[in-house]
Amino acid sequence: LPVEPTNKEKMDQPVETLFDKTASNLVGKPINRVEGSLKVSGQAHYSAEIDVDSKVYGVLVSSTIAKGKVEKIDSDSIAHIPGIIKVVTDLKHFLRNSAQGGDTEAPAQGVSEIFYHGQPIAVVVAETFEAATEGAKALKVTYKDETDQAALDFTKELPNAHEVNEKKGSDKNAKHGDPEQGLADSAVTLDSVYHTPSQSNSPMEPHVTLAHWEDDKLVLYTSNQMIASCKQQVMDALDLKKDQVELISYYVGGGFGSKLGIAPESIAAAIASKEVGRPVLITMTRPQVMEATVRRSNTRQRIAIGCNEEGIINTFIHDTTTSNLPGEAFFEPTALSTHFLYRGENRRVSYQMVDMNHVLSGSMRAPGEAVGMIAVECAMDELANKLEMDPIELRRRNEPEEDPSKEIPFSTRQLVACMEKGAEAFGWDEHNPKPASRLEGDWWIGTGMSGTSRGNTLQPSEARAILQVDDSKELGVKAIIETDMTDIGTGSYTVFTQVAADLLGLPIDHIEMKLGDSDLPPASGSGGSFGAASAGSGIYLACEQLRAMLAKKVGLHADTIRIDNGQIKKSGEHEPSKVEVAIDTGKEKVTELVDEKLANKVSGLMDKAVGLMDIASEKTGIPLPESASNLKTATEQYDFSDAQSYALADVIAEYDEQEISAKGQIKPGKNGKNLRQASFGANFAEVAVHKVTGEIRVKRMTGVYAAGRILNHKLATSQCYGGMIFGIGSALMEEVIHDKRDGRLCNHDLAEYHVPVNADVPQLEVILLEEDDPYTNPMHIKGIGETSISGSAAAIANAIYNAVGVRVYDFPITLDKLL
Ligand code: MOS
Repeated sequence: LPVEPTNKEKMDQPVETLFDKTASNLVGKPINRVEGSLKVSGQAHYSAEIDVDSKVYGVLVSSTIAKGKVEKIDSDSIAHIPGIIKVVTDLKHFLRNSAQGGDTEAPAQGVSEIFYHGQPIAVVVAETFEAATEGAKALKVTYKDETDQAALDFTKELPNAHEVNEKKGSDKNAKHGDPEQGLADSAVTLDSVYHTPSQSNSPMEPHVTLAHWEDDKLVLYTSNQMIASCKQQVMDALDLKKDQVELISYYVGGGFGSKLGIAPESIAAAIASKEVGRPVLITMTRPQVMEATVRRSNTRQRIAIGCNEEGIINTFIHDTTTSNLPGEAFFEPTALSTHFLYRGENRRVSYQMVDMNHVLSGSMRAPGEAVGMIAVECAMDELANKLEMDPIELRRRNEPEEDPSKEIPFSTRQLVACMEKGAEAFGWDEHNPKPASRLEGDWWIGTGMSGTSRGNTLQPSEARAILQVDDSKELGVKAIIETDMTDIGTGSYTVFTQVAADLLGLPIDHIEMKLGDSDLPPASGSGGSFGAASAGSGIYLACEQLRAMLAKKVGLHADTIRIDNGQIKKSGEHEPSKVEVAIDTGKEKVTELVDEKLANKVSGLMDKAVGLMDIASEKTGIPLPESASNLKTATEQYDFSDAQSYALADVIAEYDEQEISAKGQIKPGKNGKNLRQASFGANFAEVAVHKVTGEIRVKRMTGVYAAGRILNHKLATSQCYGGMIFGIGSALMEEVIHDKRDGRLCNHDLAEYHVPVNADVPQLEVILLEEDDPYTNPMHIKGIGETSISGSAAAIANAIYNAVGVRVYDFPITLDKLL
């Protein structure tokens, strides 16, 4: 357990999760996606595939200037194209960008000016997608007041950097002690500037909306991460009331932050549908996704560290400049983890903003840490080199006892444990700290590591759980879970099914998970790695409520029931009851009473029988092979000693309507304020750099992460693979390039904007360190999705330095920078 909070305002005593009281132990299991077969058989209908009568197609028209005004949009210029229905302009007025999720004060912005190349200014509606595409290309647009004053060159604009809006941003400037003096007084210092480029979220499924009106009600099938706040944005943009908008995203093909808010096609489709009186489908093209939704801002980061000869850090400075459209509040919060990652009584985190006429910058996977930790963790590596110290040892020496910025304890912090575990799994003891010391054939080989951290948060979430009699189910009953939470490919459908199935004692196929519709109870949505914890907690609490109702109905105390395979059972009076385990060894039969909890844990393993043998073998001293001689007997005799059983279906049948329902609601409490919560981890990479061409190949990576309890090991591991692959992209490939002359995005497709493909990704090893963080939420879980992208690029960069002895401060590290 973590250190006891030392603050005046103590946390409420954490409680155990109900998962420890369940019989099935589905939570944690690496089960397959419950909607997987629907997806691979084409039966999971994404928004572009929803069938509605008399649907027409809209294609957005993009501005071809970076700053100025539209003079005229000449609809007549395309009237001759067969199938053209209408050119819809004045999209209240034009759609500057997508608003970012959660920030409902900034609705999708209608503006009369052009702020960036690619900004949507009209939509051409036609009977076919092809006709609309042709029309959008041929449409004659004239501009006025075009200016050469557009801000298109970050370096040139740097002197105009200004303060950020801390109130609206997701991080704050902070200062402790005297950082500059601390630096000046330090025996050993490091002071470096890092640049990371703009990046594109570009999820597999482009931004899309099918809009239609049912009288005064607007129904949008779209692709969003956060349903409730996106609905609010639509209401704000179009002046609609709550009951006038329904927003649906049953399936989402990735978002990576670009779908936290609505994108321009949503409002365009809604307006166009109203004007033509038919459902309008707008699917953004890949270039439009990259030019007109959102990007991760480029960053300029100064990291300055001061320490003594032993490597004990006294000063940590992280100054960042990022870019965004004029007037935008969002800034890339690069230093989120810098506040608490390492020691240092003198610290400063500062943010500056440069106004640029480039597409909106917003959240992209692990906004902040993903690029901030590149700088921090490369700097730590360089400092370790300077000190001639192992980089793990340097980090170990700088473990803070508590958050050094806020002076609050960590809920749990396993950075050191992750580094140690990773070092062992990766074989770090083979690491030779001397750069360019290992040439194998034509390739320089190097290894590097980095630490990882990603803040953990909780968002308000509601859910409804319903138990109803259903004769078509084997157990005569099913559960329906309703919440507007989304599944953006992360596995929400699956992990929430596991949670509900465990708490309600039903098999997976007895749970119906209804997500992604704004008519359902509002949840956190998918963002900031808080989705599973937040929306999951709403579901957990709803199911807990149902359990209490059931217990009461059968005359038991809620703390004493277990629900197992459709049977409500009594499990002893507050004391854990004993379970009888019997093994027939062939010679004699041995029975043992063991703690129910222990037996549950064991019975939850894949091979129940083997688990029971383990217990019997340990308790009786009979070695395993012998106790295995009668497996069948063992499993059959596993039972509760004091069982009282009620069939769930019978109990539910006694209610009116033959169903019961309960609402769960999680509200972020004061825990976040009194404890620093974060997931931690460590990354290790081995690279090869070609001695002639400078080509860089990642040979292998190991990531170790501690993120509280894990709901599903397979899905969590997949999330980590994804994050590590993003790390490869960040380190070596990804870079949005805007033309400095006209603001045009030079590489607006996946042929030119490089992301790692199979050939670039070696075998990845993911290790999830066991952790239980009782202070996070009722489920004791933490965000995992963005943990592994944070810092993984730095491990690769540090490995490249180790391979060839060249430090590159300007990302991505392309081969030209090594030559
Ligand atoms: Mo995540 S960038 O908060 O979708």
